Amino acid sequence: MAVAEITQKTASILVVDDETTVVNLISRQLGRDGLACEKTSSAYQALELLDTGDFDVVITDISMPEMSGIELLKHVKQHDPEMQVIVVTGNPNVDFAVEAIRSQVDDYLVKPFELAQLSHSVGRALAHRALLRENRRYREELEELVGEQAQQIERLFMDGLSALAGAIEARDRYTGGHLDRVSRYALATGVELDLDTERMRVLWLGSLFHDVGKLAIPDAILNKPGPLTDDEYAEMKRHPELGVKIVERISFLVPAAMAILHHQERWDGRGYPSGLRGDDICIEGRILAVADAFDAMLTDRPYRRARSELQAVAELQRCAGSQFDPRVVDAFLKAHGRGFRDLPDLPLNGRG
Ligand SMILES: [Fe+2]
Repeated sequence: MAVAEITQKTASILVVDDETTVVNLISRQLGRDGLACEKTSSAYQALELLDTGDFDVVITDISMPEMSGIELLKHVKQHDPEMQVIVVTGNPNVDFAVEAIRSQVDDYLVKPFELAQLSHSVGRALAHRALLRENRRYREELEELVGEQAQQIERLFMDGLSALAGAIEARDRYTGGHLDRVSRYALATGVELDLDTERMRVLWLGSLFHDVGKLAIPDAILNKPGPLTDDEYAEMKRHPELGVKIVERISFLVPAAMAILHHQERWDGRGYPSGLRGDDICIEGRILAVADAFDAMLTDRPYRRARSELQAVAELQRCAGSQFDPRVVDAFLKAHGRGFRDLPDLPLNGRG
């Protein structure tokens, strides 16, 4: 058998028996088979040798003064489940057999045994070990491949998400680059607030898709070159709920639904669609409200000119505690002071 032949060339056997003559007999025979042997008469020393050496098979006597062969076998299997253990016994009985099977013995030899029997048993153990190793390597390779493919799928998925978000943004001619900026602002604020990875991911999705509901708002309202009428404004205010209806049908966007629904709520309860107040608004929604408003202030709109950054900062400060969660404004301003840098490792720039 090819595998056994290859293995036997480098195989190393540990022989444990308190009877020196048996140890010598076994190692002489295995030496003739071209195997490297290490001998010891102590089970404790065997454990030490196993810790430092690179063995393939352990051959152990059952009855030894300090520790039984079965006890040694248990330690060995715990340490290396692929290690092959052959036990040698003088008087096999049912108790021995049961205990040996329970302890996962790989083979046993009954004294006195034929030397050919020993060689055969060791050869089989080496082949079995080689097979176990081969299987493990194959499994590991497979796992690695699956991991790589999962990463590729994740990347494609993120690219798809970003493309979708870009398509939404393209419909709204006044907000070019808005989503990228809101993402940056929101995530940098999330970092200041010490949000965990899962919350950050929700925040990222929320920032890309907070206005997805605008897909369902007529162009005439969305891009109207003047102030909206009350009816038009009422229609526009439906976009958070319309957004939730859209993402509800896309499983990987569902976690962002709450952030989308809450991004137009106000800390003082005067926002929409539900007039939630304070902590009843999810943290992602409160962060998006600040990030979204800041970017809107810096952008020219049909009904007003863009403000300067200094003015926008002053406006956030003025509205902290009324429109915005003051803690979020604080965190946002800290992130602003650092230039919204040190963002977490998320595919923020998927759209290039
Ligand atoms: Fe919005």
